[in-house]
Amino acid sequence: MCKKEYEAEARERIMGEAEVLVAASAPGKCILFGEHAVVYGQPAVAVAIEQRLSISATKAASWSVDGSALDPDRHPHITMLKDRWLSDSEPMALHISGDIPRASGLGSSAALSAAVGAAMHRLANPSKGIDRDGLSAVAHRAEAHAQQGRASPMDASTSVEGGVVVLSDRVEGAAKHLYTRQLTTPEGKRSWEVHHLAPPESEVFLVLGNTGVFAPTSKQVAMVADALAAEPTRMREIEAIGTVARRGLAALIDGNYEAVGHAMSENHLLLRNLGVSSPELEALIQAAMPSSLGAKLTGAGGGGCMVALTRDPKQTSEAIELAGGRTLISRIGNEGVRIERG
Ligand code: MEV
Repeated sequence: MCKKEYEAEARERIMGEAEVLVAASAPGKCILFGEHAVVYGQPAVAVAIEQRLSISATKAASWSVDGSALDPDRHPHITMLKDRWLSDSEPMALHISGDIPRASGLGSSAALSAAVGAAMHRLANPSKGIDRDGLSAVAHRAEAHAQQGRASPMDASTSVEGGVVVLSDRVEGAAKHLYTRQLTTPEGKRSWEVHHLAPPESEVFLVLGNTGVFAPTSKQVAMVADALAAEPTRMREIEAIGTVARRGLAALIDGNYEAVGHAMSENHLLLRNLGVSSPELEALIQAAMPSSLGAKLTGAGGGGCMVALTRDPKQTSEAIELAGGRTLISRIGNEGVRIERG
């Protein structure tokens, strides 16, 4: 379904339900540079994609999510947000829809936290706007909980803020500084400076190619932590990803998309050496290369999605599909979490 059809369908569904109390939506994300290394404090860049997750809440006799009873084990993010904002409220039925594939590296769990959090915050504080700082902090905590204490604020901040989000170990002059995030991970205390960036406009597209292989982020993140614990000198590989991410960021600020694509491909080689690619990802990346400016895995890897930066999304998309991937197309930088109704 294309973006316009999806939005029209979502609006129709929401408007057609008389008893909807609140509805919200949040975008997925695509990491251009720096996944995994960002967990260790290296710089990274992510963009909010056109694909979104929507949530609506209706009155009900007991708490439920898409017809199943709300269960803290199955729905840890939603339970955490409900306990924070709606612990004493009447029960509700939550309905989730959207076009972000699950567990595929496109930030579906952070989008869920962002949309549910925004909806619950609105119900608890009807006269207040979205508190993006507070919401992304809670969504980051939910990600950290799901990833055994190792998570950067990348996914949460990108889904909440939208646009292009830059994380760094320092305040970056060329971007708007939003806030500092800290987390104590099993390997020590981490700190990230979170920024918003408005890169120059250009006719470039992201083609996301889904391998269809389910790849939980927590497993991939733990695998990297184990590899670094077994061989601490491999931290140099993490630092090398940071160096490439910094080069990619400079190219993005300049609007030099040829150099952005080059840095993406370089970043991919480092991720492959780190052991987080897969044969399926490699096949889609290889297929995309001839028609794109650069390509890499995006997210935690091991399956999930790759991304190609291209000026010819049709040709790149067809090449990826011929190699067995399912594609989505997005422009760079889309609106963050928003209230749709209520
Ligand atoms: C997952 O989308 C990105 C990782 O870098 C994990 C994180 O940043 O928390 C793999």
